[in-house]
Formats: sequence, C-alpha cells, structure tokens
Amino acid sequence: MGRPGSLTAGGHQRTEVTLRPATTDDAGRLLDWRNDPEAVRFSVSGRQVTPGEHREWLSARLADPSTHLWIAEQAGDAVGQVRVDVLDGTGTVSVAIAPSQRGRGFGSAVLVAMVVEMNRLGDAPTLRALAHAENTASIRAFERAGFHRLARHEGEFAVLECTIRAER
Ligand SMILES: CC(C)(COP(=O)(O)OP(=O)(O)OC[C@H]1O[C@@H](n2cnc3c(N)ncnc32)[C@H](O)[C@@H]1OP(=O)(O)O)[C@@H](O)C(=O)NCCC(=O)NCCS
Repeated sequence: MGRPGSLTAGGHQRTEVTLRPATTDDAGRLLDWRNDPEAVRFSVSGRQVTPGEHREWLSARLADPSTHLWIAEQAGDAVGQVRVDVLDGTGTVSVAIAPSQRGRGFGSAVLVAMVVEMNRLGDAPTLRALAHAENTASIRAFERAGFHRLARHEGEFAVLECTIRAER
C-alpha cells in the first residue's frame, strides 16, 4: 500500500495521492461524498442513502475480501475514495472525490493509483466502470487512467474497461 499515483493532467499542477485501506472511521466522509448532489445525480440508483443503510453497507464491504476500498490522501488529507468489487475476475470500479477537491486532477490520479494497486493484487484481469454519459469529468478521469470507452451503453451509462497485467 502507499505507492503514489501521480499525474499531470491538462493544465493541473502535478497531483500525487496515496491510497490506504478504508476503515469504519471513514464512514462519515464516505457518506458525505456518496450523498453529495452531483454524486447522487450520476449514481446508478439516483438517490441518497440513509446513515443506517450506509453503516450496514460499509460493514459488509469491509468484511468482504472481494471488495477493495481505499481512501486517497494527499499530504495526509483524505481527498476521495475508490472501490473495486471483484466478481469472476472482473473488478467494477467506483470513484468519488470530495466536493471541495474536484477539478484539480485528483480523480485521474486516484484511478491511476488504483490501477497500480490492482496490478499488484492481480485478482481482476479486467476492470470495468459505468459512468453516466453526461459525466464528462468521470469519463475523462477513467480515460486518463488507461480505460477505454466501449461502443455500447448500459442505459444512460457509458461502459469503460481497462486490462490489468499482473506484476507477479
Ligand atoms: C468524477 C470525479 C471522480 C472526477 O474527479 P475530479 O478530481 O473532479 O476530476 P479531474 O480533476 O481528475 O479531471 C478529470 C478530467 O475531467 C475534466 N473535468 C474536471 N471537471 C470537469 C467538469 N466539471 N466538466 C467537464 N470536465 C471536467 C478535467 O479537465 C480532466 O480532463 P483532462 O485530463 O482532459 O484535463 C469527481 O468529479 C466526482 O467525485 N464526482 C462525483 C462522483 C462521481 O460522479 N463519480 C464517478 C462515478 S463513475
């Protein structure tokens, strides 16, 4: 853990983040980021989650070895989260950056760092993400991290994929 993802995205200053595993202490910030209006707008469910739902969801995810949930930090401050749910060799990726930190290159850098970790872990040869077709920042951030957009859509969502080569 802790290998930095760094990126110089168009016009951004060099942005570096490190990933650490999320814990129950991160419940508050994860709920805030999940229920932020833009995150809700572009989510698959299109609705906010309640604190109770969130608590149950987080304990289940933290207990499940097929879920990797990381908090991205810059200089010790939490700036976002990235999660990969692995099923049958495919990791489904979800990412969110703290509202006050968006548009500074963190989304791209967090995804780059996640790809490094997934290369190291080697449990998902394919990564996949669904990004709302109007969510330009998300689509661009995934593309910056090496994902390519497939021709097909799933409803309102663009499908992006990335192939992982295990380093071991
Ligand atoms: C989507 C999200 C993760 C992107 O992270 P970010 O830190 O804001 O994005 P970045 O600063 O890394 O920018 C990524 C690219 O999008 C572009 N971008 C950033 N904000 C943008 C905006 N509001 N509109 C259009 N493009 C935007 C950037 O210019 C950059 O493109 P470039 O590399 O060609 O210059 C973040 O905005 C977020 O958490 N949104 C709410 C939750 C969400 O939508 N999650 C994704 C679900 S799949």
